[in-house]
Amino acid sequence: MAFLEVKDLYKNFGETAVLKGVSFAMERGEVVSVIGSSGNGKTTLLRCLNLLETADSGSISVDGETVFPLSKTKDKSDSAQQRLTFGMVFQNFNLFPQYTALQNVTLAMDVQAKKTLTSKNPFSPERRRALKELREKNEAEARQLLARVGLENKVDNYPCELSGGQQQRVAIARALALSPDILCFDEPTSALDPELTGEVLKVIKQLRNEGRTMIIVTHELEFARNVSDKIIFMADGVIEETGTPQELFDSPKSEKTRAFFEKLSEKVTEDDN
Ligand SMILES: Nc1ncnc2c1ncn2[C@@H]1O[C@H](COP(=O)(O)OP(=O)(O)O)[C@@H](O)[C@H]1O
Ligand SMILES: [Mg+2]
Repeated sequence: MAFLEVKDLYKNFGETAVLKGVSFAMERGEVVSVIGSSGNGKTTLLRCLNLLETADSGSISVDGETVFPLSKTKDKSDSAQQRLTFGMVFQNFNLFPQYTALQNVTLAMDVQAKKTLTSKNPFSPERRRALKELREKNEAEARQLLARVGLENKVDNYPCELSGGQQQRVAIARALALSPDILCFDEPTSALDPELTGEVLKVIKQLRNEGRTMIIVTHELEFARNVSDKIIFMADGVIEETGTPQELFDSPKSEKTRAFFEKLSEKVTEDDN
């Protein structure tokens, strides 16, 4: 059994069928890139994996455990834990504007840490001491994570004081802080000026070299070719074709895949003229 198994996911928004039976599998440590034109359900697929949307049917299992559909016998705290199976980096960073870079990273860690405390009484000195220790530990870890994405000098800056590339790197540090089994990126560079994409792609490459399991929705085809073990091409709510970067980019089998590449190369030629 593969590390991640997605079987036959369907998702409608009202009358619109967005996912029409999506199935794929990946191993731990693999990097899979998802490509395809806008409106083909790539974001919806990532949101269903992260349980930010509820698929209408199908199943998702990670490491042999079913994460979707949620088991009725499990309690809520279990399902809250399950969300950490997947981490998400959004197209528009989604940082909290009122918190510093450091606070954006520690916030979720502190919420998670609180759940591990044994005493529930907020006035108990023992709980307050334990919480203080956890917060200090989280802060140290968050500083390390921000240093890993090259932002050791920006920990106390607010999102509005950071460039888009820096904000996205904070968002990556925040996603890493919860140690997800699988990290998902939804077009992590498409909201950035071209000169800022490199610094974000470099961080993702570094994560790949560390053996992180990642699913990356991207329009950066050259990048996808370089970092991915496997490429998924989505069209009309299904996986139209999947293969290694060589297979998919150099000898696509499906007519739709070929048409997608042709349209892109026409666009590049137009942009050059
Ligand atoms: N929350 C939503 N409510 C209604 N329609 C949605 C919602 N999210 C996405 N859609 C629709 O689903 C389709 C696929 O969207 P999306 O998954 O964002 O595609 P992609 O990421 O490939 O561009 C689009 O037609 C979009 O309008
Ligand atoms: Mg999208």
